[in-house]
Amino acid sequence: MPMHLTEQQQAVLNGSKGEVMAKVMKTLVMYGETFGASRMVPVTSEQGHLVTSFGLSMMKPVYDLMDQLIEGNALSQQKFTMDPRPLDPAVPSNFLQNLIFRFMYSKQADYEKQLKQLGLLSDNAFTCTCYMPEVGNEPKKGDILSWAESSAVVYANSVLGARCNRNSGIIELFGSIAGWVPEFGLLTDEGRKATWVVDVRTTKKPEAQVLGSAIGMKVLEDVPYIRGLDQWIGTDLNDEAKAYLKNMGAATASNGAVGLYHVDKLTPEACEIGESLIADGARSYIIDDAELERVKASYPCIWKDSSATPKLCFIGCPHLSAAQLEQWTDQLQTELKKNGRQKVAIPTVFTAAPAVADAFRLTPRAQELQRMGVVLSSICPLMYMNNPLCGKMPVITNSNKLRTYSTARYYTDDEILAFLSKGGQNA
Ligand code: F3S
Repeated sequence: MPMHLTEQQQAVLNGSKGEVMAKVMKTLVMYGETFGASRMVPVTSEQGHLVTSFGLSMMKPVYDLMDQLIEGNALSQQKFTMDPRPLDPAVPSNFLQNLIFRFMYSKQADYEKQLKQLGLLSDNAFTCTCYMPEVGNEPKKGDILSWAESSAVVYANSVLGARCNRNSGIIELFGSIAGWVPEFGLLTDEGRKATWVVDVRTTKKPEAQVLGSAIGMKVLEDVPYIRGLDQWIGTDLNDEAKAYLKNMGAATASNGAVGLYHVDKLTPEACEIGESLIADGARSYIIDDAELERVKASYPCIWKDSSATPKLCFIGCPHLSAAQLEQWTDQLQTELKKNGRQKVAIPTVFTAAPAVADAFRLTPRAQELQRMGVVLSSICPLMYMNNPLCGKMPVITNSNKLRTYSTARYYTDDEILAFLSKGGQNA
């Protein structure tokens, strides 16, 4: 079905703002028509967010495209934040790995110049948790977004009540350039209805990353309505609940393709209209202790030697909030003391948005973290892992997203703390 365009949109499509803008518009129209959209709606968020943050040497078509956009004056109408940078010399790496990084991401500086011309918010705007208050890209409820980063999209839709589809990279930039996105899926009331009811019936607080993984693998790209979680994380959408939902949501989005979930009595739309969000004929999924155990046990170990001693640990995918940084620092300190250690037993990297990390560096805990031997970085752990040399390393993480897309092995928060404070395979 062809889309109905307003006069203004049709004019842009016909070339009123130049040939390049016409192509941007045509791409968005084709995208919308593929998914059955009948119209384009304005992007209303203050800022955009782009997923393609890495200057991979092999992405020449992307750099050519950026040049064409800049030359054609098809710039973003909103400033945008970006996913994390792929490089940070502070993160432990050997000579060969450094060589590989320099080769792989040799276009980083040039690409960032292009991004500045297109509308990059600031040099500090590289994080997947752009919605943290310190970063300054927190959409309001009901805002229409043009984002693609899966962990940010699911957070914005579910926790903030904004509206965004799981767009692809570049398409999301086109939406920010045109100022319109096609209306379908999670932008519509109908598309935000839950087609699954998930009942959490565990005897203890579920590990957020495993719960999200179980839900994602079951419902795939559908919308779940989650009941029973309020007994573990409460009914107040405070920082702690938000951090839990951030981790759970990233796992639903990467272990499945969830773009929106509702949590009974907690997330904005569920608080407003409750179970009337559940679509007729919604399917049911019951999660108990045994189901979470089954899901966790199903993760394959793709290390060459499954009993290898871990060489590196990443915490913070998605990037940690300020409260999470503090909590991890305190817990680590307690566990190290308990085990008579001064420093972590495995090289460890905590990752957080540049603005969150900078604020943390001003606090006494930052010295404590450094003293324990932990590196604080704003890198994307996945970008670090995505090459043959790092892929061979036994890396551990508490991120189900990193586990899914790399060779890193998943452990719960408690297991990770045991590794870091006891060492080896003694966790
Ligand atoms: Fe963020 Fe990179 Fe993980 S973008 S969610 S730190 S894979």
